[in-house]
Amino acid sequence: MNTYEPPIFELSSPGKCGVALPEVDVPASELPASLLRQDDLDGMPELSEPEVVRHFTRISQRNFCIDTGMYPLGSCTMKYNPKLNEETARLPAFAAVHPLQDPSLAQGILRLMAELQRDLAEISGFDAVSLQPAAGAQGELTGALVFRAYHLDRGDPERTEILVPDAAHGTNPATAAMTGFTVIEVKSDARGNVDLDDLKRHLSPRTAGMMLTNPNTLGLFEEEVEDVSRLVHEAGGLMYCDGANFNAILGVVKPAALGFDFMHYNLHKTFSTPHGGGGPGSGAVGCTALLAPFLPGPRVREVTLEPGEDRALDRTETRYELFMPPRSIGRVKVFYGNVGMLVRAWTYLRLLGKAGLRQVAETSVLNANYLRVQLGDLYPPAVDRICMHEVVLKGQLDGVTDIRTLDIAKRLIDYHFHPPTIYFPLIVPEALMIEPTETESRRSLDGFVEAMREIAREARETPDLLHAAPTTTPVRRLDEVGAARQPVLCYQQEQGCF
Ligand SMILES: Cc1ncc(COP(=O)(O)O)c(C=O)c1O
Repeated sequence: MNTYEPPIFELSSPGKCGVALPEVDVPASELPASLLRQDDLDGMPELSEPEVVRHFTRISQRNFCIDTGMYPLGSCTMKYNPKLNEETARLPAFAAVHPLQDPSLAQGILRLMAELQRDLAEISGFDAVSLQPAAGAQGELTGALVFRAYHLDRGDPERTEILVPDAAHGTNPATAAMTGFTVIEVKSDARGNVDLDDLKRHLSPRTAGMMLTNPNTLGLFEEEVEDVSRLVHEAGGLMYCDGANFNAILGVVKPAALGFDFMHYNLHKTFSTPHGGGGPGSGAVGCTALLAPFLPGPRVREVTLEPGEDRALDRTETRYELFMPPRSIGRVKVFYGNVGMLVRAWTYLRLLGKAGLRQVAETSVLNANYLRVQLGDLYPPAVDRICMHEVVLKGQLDGVTDIRTLDIAKRLIDYHFHPPTIYFPLIVPEALMIEPTETESRRSLDGFVEAMREIAREARETPDLLHAAPTTTPVRRLDEVGAARQPVLCYQQEQGCF
């Protein structure tokens, strides 16, 4: 099969046209000269309509996506995004509303945002929510800025350290460092929890707070989380919850009840809005009343107007208005955040209801444990205990020395599965971090198990198949370091960019 798909410019033939319109039979109207382009369109591709459609359809099929197969990317929660979300996000009253429209004419979307703030607060046990941040990592940045604003506001500028477990996602230490904090690493113990003795050693009057993911990045519930929160609070610090793994505890545990002061929600994971290359994200944040005055804004609030307060009213009316929290760190995103994502998350919450949310958690945990049990005899678990929504295995097959996790991951592509997250968390050698998510059926889980078991057999009997993988993709193994360090971002570099 010829897998090469040239750029559209190379498919161009001079004079070809995509549409054939009838002769103009109305008088031409002159446009002002200032609106007319001065240059011609040299260099634009010239193709027929079917050529254009086929080119873009072909390249669209070269992406692996959740709509074509299982995507068990640990920590990233690549779950299925219901199509109903897309329907509601495209409703003209949401899609066509302009961010500069007067709030009195945008009451529908403001009400949706107020309801989403309320629902997220209720699900997590927090008092206030801001929908501004555009990703989990930006939610973390927001949290670190809020922590600093809070300590400065109390007249305590010496709190310059943020504690981060050694298993943490890279965005946690990166965020803390970016906001000017010193990052202090805390060790995990043999059961995969925060090592309490190591934590105690690092707590001091310099502690501004701790960033903790729960369930953590080993896919395990932090068994001592209440003690961790207590110790950090006793030292005068604040507790940040990285909510990337919230789907594992939805409707079962409220992070605020575990002692957290602040958290981000990845709406583009837990609440099924598209994730990855698929579009913008949303990393809404929630917090306790203590930190609410520092949240970024604008936030939305509901106000009740009585007839006497507004002469146009003959009865009590509810309105939604924008406001900045009194000691806000300011805006972290233009306007109101990625509003299209908020509509999708709101829809998902309405779709599931309270019982459905709990079922998300139960199914995600069941699915991950199913894989743990089905694969644990071949691929040793990083920590041998019941996991939450994801399981971390090791690509170290008994008696096989020349196969690495990378080979296993690449071979999975030939079996039409997206590889799991690999080599993370960093503390697990040859890590294979598998998150099936709650949206996979028993049948697709069994297909994944079969592929993984088959790959283990190949690793022993025909290891070259793994070394050569993937063999079914348009490109084989890429120079990933080169792609990151020396990217070629410009087509036909020597002739200038289009
Ligand atoms: C544990 C954890 N924290 C934070 C993030 C960052 O979230 P985002 O990708 O939305 O910036 C991720 C992303 O995968 C994550 O898994």
